[in-house]
Amino acid sequence: MDARLDGRAVAESVRAATRQAVESFAQDAAPPALAVVLVGDHPASASYVRGKKKAAAEVGIESTVHRRADSISQDDLLALVDTLNTDDAVDGILVQLPLPDHIDPHAVIEAIDPAKDVDGFHPQNLGRLLIGMPQFTPATPSGIMVLLEHALDDLSGQRAVVVGRSNIVGKPLAALLMQRNANATVTVCHSRTRDLAAHTREADIVVAAVGRPKLITADMVREGVTVIDVGINRVDDETRERGYRLVGDVDYDAIAPKAHAITPVPGGVGPMTIAMLLRNTLQAAQQHRGQ
Ligand code: GUN
Repeated sequence: MDARLDGRAVAESVRAATRQAVESFAQDAAPPALAVVLVGDHPASASYVRGKKKAAAEVGIESTVHRRADSISQDDLLALVDTLNTDDAVDGILVQLPLPDHIDPHAVIEAIDPAKDVDGFHPQNLGRLLIGMPQFTPATPSGIMVLLEHALDDLSGQRAVVVGRSNIVGKPLAALLMQRNANATVTVCHSRTRDLAAHTREADIVVAAVGRPKLITADMVREGVTVIDVGINRVDDETRERGYRLVGDVDYDAIAPKAHAITPVPGGVGPMTIAMLLRNTLQAAQQHRGQ
C-alpha cells in the first residue's frame, strides 16, 4: 500500500465543503470577510499570505491584506488591530507571524478580539481548547487531526509523540490528541528531551514540528508508524530556478517504506492549514452575524 498521505486531496475535500457552506451563507449576507495583517517582507510569510488570499477567493471568502513596513511601532500595530476589531465589516483577523523583533507577539495576539481570532492563538481560545470547549482551534493542529482521522480508524489508546512545543502547533496539538474525543496517549518532546529516538521508537504516531531537516530518520520509527511532517525548511538547491527547495523535518524517502502513512512536504500539512483557516473564517462570520 502506498503510505503517502496526500494533504492536497484531503484539503480539497475540506475546501469543497467550505465553498458550499460559504455559498449558502452568502445567499442572504455579505461574504465572510478576513483581514490579514502582514508586517515586513519576510519572503516565506509573504508567500503564505498570497496562498491564503488565493485560497480564500476560491471558496468565496473576501480577504484584505494590510501590509505594514518592518519599522511599524508596536503601538501602531496595536492600533491597526483595534481598528479591525471594531470594524463590523471584518469577521476574522489574522496577524501573520513571525513579527519583527521589536514587537511582542503576545501583546499583538492578546489584542485581537477572541471572537475574530481565526488563528485560535489568543490565550482565551487556547485555554478553551485545553479544557475541551474550543471556539477557534489553530489551523495546523486541527488540519493534522483531520489527516490522522483519514489515516487511522481510531486514535483511541494510540501512542502519539509530538516533537516540538510551540504555542501554534505542538501545545495545541497535544491538547487535541489527548481530548476525550481522540483519546491518544501523548508525549511531547523538545530540544531538551534526552534520547528522542527512545520516545519516537515507541510511537504509533510521530508528529515532527521543529524546523530541522531530517531530524526524524528511519531508525527512529517503528514499522507501521504514522508520520506527520509539519516542517517547512528551505534548503539550497541549485537545480531549482529559485535556488532552494522545501523539505520537512522527516526523512520521507527512508521512512515511507516502513510507514502505515506519512505526509510529504510540500503537499501534506501545508494545504490542510489553509483549508482549516478558511473553515474557521466561515465559522467566525456565522457567529459574528448570528447565524
Ligand atoms: N506563521 C506560521 N504559521 C502561521 C499560522 O498558522 N498563522 C499565522 N498567523 N502565522 C503563522
